[in-house]
Amino acid sequence: MTSAFSPAVTATAPAKINLILRVGAPDESGYHPLVTVFQAVDLWDEVAIVSADADSLVIEGAGNLSGVPTDRTNIVWKAVDALAHVRGLREPLAITITKTIPVAGGMAGGSADAAATLVALNELWQVGLTSPQILDMAATLGADVPFSLLGGTALGEGRGDLLTPLIRQQPLHLVVVTAPLELSTPRVYKTLDDLRAEGQGTLTPLSSSELDVVIGDDVGELIGVLSNDLQPAALKMAPIVQKNLDVLSEAGALAHLVSGSGPTVFGLCVDATHVADVANFLLQRGFSATPTTSTPLGARLTSSLSSAREAH
Ligand code: C5P
Repeated sequence: MTSAFSPAVTATAPAKINLILRVGAPDESGYHPLVTVFQAVDLWDEVAIVSADADSLVIEGAGNLSGVPTDRTNIVWKAVDALAHVRGLREPLAITITKTIPVAGGMAGGSADAAATLVALNELWQVGLTSPQILDMAATLGADVPFSLLGGTALGEGRGDLLTPLIRQQPLHLVVVTAPLELSTPRVYKTLDDLRAEGQGTLTPLSSSELDVVIGDDVGELIGVLSNDLQPAALKMAPIVQKNLDVLSEAGALAHLVSGSGPTVFGLCVDATHVADVANFLLQRGFSATPTTSTPLGARLTSSLSSAREAH
């Protein structure tokens, strides 16, 4: 139950794809060093938080939400605890997540929820953390959480949490295709390790010419650098993913790739008209198809304390 005069603060964070995802051999902690180019896309999860008499978590949204934990294992509680620790006070909260990002789809939906929670709660509790301080906290929650905060386009190194923002001038036009199953990220990384012969997994840094292509406007050149080391592992674990890649090719997408650890895949298109054509082709054949574009934005407040009070 929410407190009588407590306003809800809301924040939103975007899904991501990886335009490039290179994976090295795991370190002692089991994490894999990455060289990746993250791209935020215009699909957003929203987190609404209000002070309450007891903790509660509600998950809303279209699609199959059964894979989202509603108990303490949900990453948003990890974000709450991290912020409460800095604040020195933990009060009960009612949290509602409205999901648009495919669940366990390789598009960092959980990380987006954690990022939005940090932004919303920093406001609700008036903790006063700066953006760099929130970024540092995000890295303790999960490898993709810092990027969910930052958004836009970024080079990711380390576990994917060491970010260098990149500026892309032209939007990318995309069709996202989900699969009716979930892939566990640790299991996809483990499958990649198993697929690789001993000693493989040398990590190649992004060359300056690759970087130029990533930030440039030539979609044709971009196709030449798109890659995902996790794709063979995702395909091994979920052969249906190949069907989704094949139909994107059949539909005339310029390129197609598994998103992160999958099973979601994306097709790259020329423009919004091309996106509509490709999406229609897929929908007519019973596939899922979500048209979207890249976004230069990251996590942000959608309702602050003052706007929530005004609305009350
Ligand atoms: O950091 P996050 O909780 O999102 O990662 C989930 C799992 O994915 C990790 O426990 C690890 O098994 C795997 N992972 C990895 N290397 C990375 C990122 C994630 O092995 N760079």
